[in-house]
Amino acid sequence: MKIHSLGGYFHEYQKSVQNPEAFWSSIADNFYWRKKWDKVVDWNFAEPNVNWFVNGKLNITENIFERQLFTRGDQTAIIWEPNEPGEEAQHISYRELYEKVCQFSNVLIEKGIEKGDRVIIYMPMIPEAAVAMLACARVGAVHSVVFAGFSATALADRINDCEAKMVLTSDGNFRGKKKIAVKAVVDQALEHTTTIETVIVAQRTKQEVTMVEGRDIWWHEATEGVSTENKAVEVDSEDMLFILYTSGSTGKPKGVVHTTGGYMVYTSFTFKNVFQYGEGDVYWCTADIGWITGHSYIVYGPLLAGATSVMFEGVPTYPDAGRFWEIVEKHKVNQFYTAPTAIRALQAYGLDVIEPYDLSSLKVLGSVGEPINEEAWHWYHDHIGKGKCPIVDTWWQTETGGILISPIAGVTPTKPSYATLPLPGVQPIIVDNEGNELKGNSVEGNLCIKFPWPSMLRTTYGDHERCKNTYFANFENLYFTGDGAKRDEDGYYRILGRVDDVINVSGHRMGTAEVENAINEHPLVVESAVVGFPHDIKGQGIYAYVICEKDVDSSDEQNMKKSLIATVNKLIGPIAKPDKIQIVPELPKTRSGKIMRRILRKIAEGTTSGFGDTSTLVNPEIVNTIIEGTKDA
Ligand code: PRX
Repeated sequence: MKIHSLGGYFHEYQKSVQNPEAFWSSIADNFYWRKKWDKVVDWNFAEPNVNWFVNGKLNITENIFERQLFTRGDQTAIIWEPNEPGEEAQHISYRELYEKVCQFSNVLIEKGIEKGDRVIIYMPMIPEAAVAMLACARVGAVHSVVFAGFSATALADRINDCEAKMVLTSDGNFRGKKKIAVKAVVDQALEHTTTIETVIVAQRTKQEVTMVEGRDIWWHEATEGVSTENKAVEVDSEDMLFILYTSGSTGKPKGVVHTTGGYMVYTSFTFKNVFQYGEGDVYWCTADIGWITGHSYIVYGPLLAGATSVMFEGVPTYPDAGRFWEIVEKHKVNQFYTAPTAIRALQAYGLDVIEPYDLSSLKVLGSVGEPINEEAWHWYHDHIGKGKCPIVDTWWQTETGGILISPIAGVTPTKPSYATLPLPGVQPIIVDNEGNELKGNSVEGNLCIKFPWPSMLRTTYGDHERCKNTYFANFENLYFTGDGAKRDEDGYYRILGRVDDVINVSGHRMGTAEVENAINEHPLVVESAVVGFPHDIKGQGIYAYVICEKDVDSSDEQNMKKSLIATVNKLIGPIAKPDKIQIVPELPKTRSGKIMRRILRKIAEGTTSGFGDTSTLVNPEIVNTIIEGTKDA
């Protein structure tokens, strides 16, 4: 079902709220179910317990392949654009992809992977990564993709948390001018895990790697001579499809669990509608498969919808800052989906890098991952979309599985920096801190959702209580997003950013507690406090206030900072690197020992006065001391 007009949108929205069962079953009917569901949705947000398409049986890859091969076998499913512009792009048809997936499914089975087993995918943006995800889904295994920029420690934590049996990886990764060791990180991680039986290594960079006998095998050797026919394993609609780890305000990253039936229906539906994908179009999402955007809108959503999806190995600035636009011209991209941080970074290079390229194929532009500021919105609209492409500012989360609030391209009138209106089936509600609904328009508060949608998270892996406490315990009978939002006089939603201790750095979600924990591991650190601060390109930067064991004099300070950054790199990865580190003698604490983060956030923003009541601090003087020290951060 595709919505073509604003009237059509309101009509479908009404239907979806008045009778969600009828609405979603008519969409789910377009898929191939080995056995149809008994009930569309069964739910409560108290436990929480959410089931969609109850007792339905299916395999999501049968819906990508068998359901579509007859009509789309020769159509390109994935266009793979390598890091080096001189290396030839690959066009992989639906039939070719199907054969690769079947073949690799047979390898997984041969290596002892069974339904429900967890498989870690730690891979760069190469076609094998998509094949790996789909092969897991085909045999009923649960994939957990770990962004290949995470450190060995972060990888080991995730392997241990989900007790994975296998790792799929590559020798290395080409990213711009760099050649990054990938397998070596896996080797380090596996020194701290006990559950991995097999590692399959795709060859990409041909750099030297160590292969452990009996455990490690090359992808090309494992697939050699293996049949390209495979019968998909039947799974339940509520069987796990994947786990994806994401940061929260406390503790270690949690494994967000997504199940099969609802995720399939929702990602396909939202892909087609939000981007208004049409037959023959070429769609490109620049995310990495290590994030939810790569899962839902490079792999599953587009392929379920029979689209041609571009997958790019490299970075936007290599060999120069015109690379995105060169690719748009080369593959005649029609829908282009990226993050505000990339837009802002490219904006800084000026218009000369865009001018050589013909961007006339573009019809729709998308934005995701963080609020898009008005300036970036206008630049994107005017210089990339040449004023004729609607921008879909899509708001959603790892936990939501798919886009929840967004314009429908060409249908919903847009407004810069507004995610606009909820998609059909999505029932947002804004509440105050006590949980009272703020009705009507022109209100601002905590963004919650009051009715389930098919692709919502079901649990956090191995810890259902944590899922309940994080998302369903703040406000009774509501899913709490962690975001603040405003609903304006037109009923449009504007996302105001996180209201918890999660920060958004270049569209990557980071728990401040997670970064603090990493810093605190440094032997010379007593305590630290991490906050976000406004950053022109990244949206938010990471500001760390650190108390050291002994007085670090100014000549030591630079070394200490380098050493702290190295610790964060080792424990999390370069994406968590603090932009500013300030060594402080003390942190502003209340008598009960609570750090006044509000004050630290303000100081990081550059505020020097107006901190409100500081009399509850043990040592109010520390505020001025810290302000004075900001120049050295
Ligand atoms: O704060 C919101 C922000 O990103 C958070 C979710 O991060 P993650 O789970 O990593 O998923 C990112 C990709 C879907 C949200 O809680 N966010 C995401 N999209 C937007 C956004 N903030 C403002 N506008 C958006 N369009």
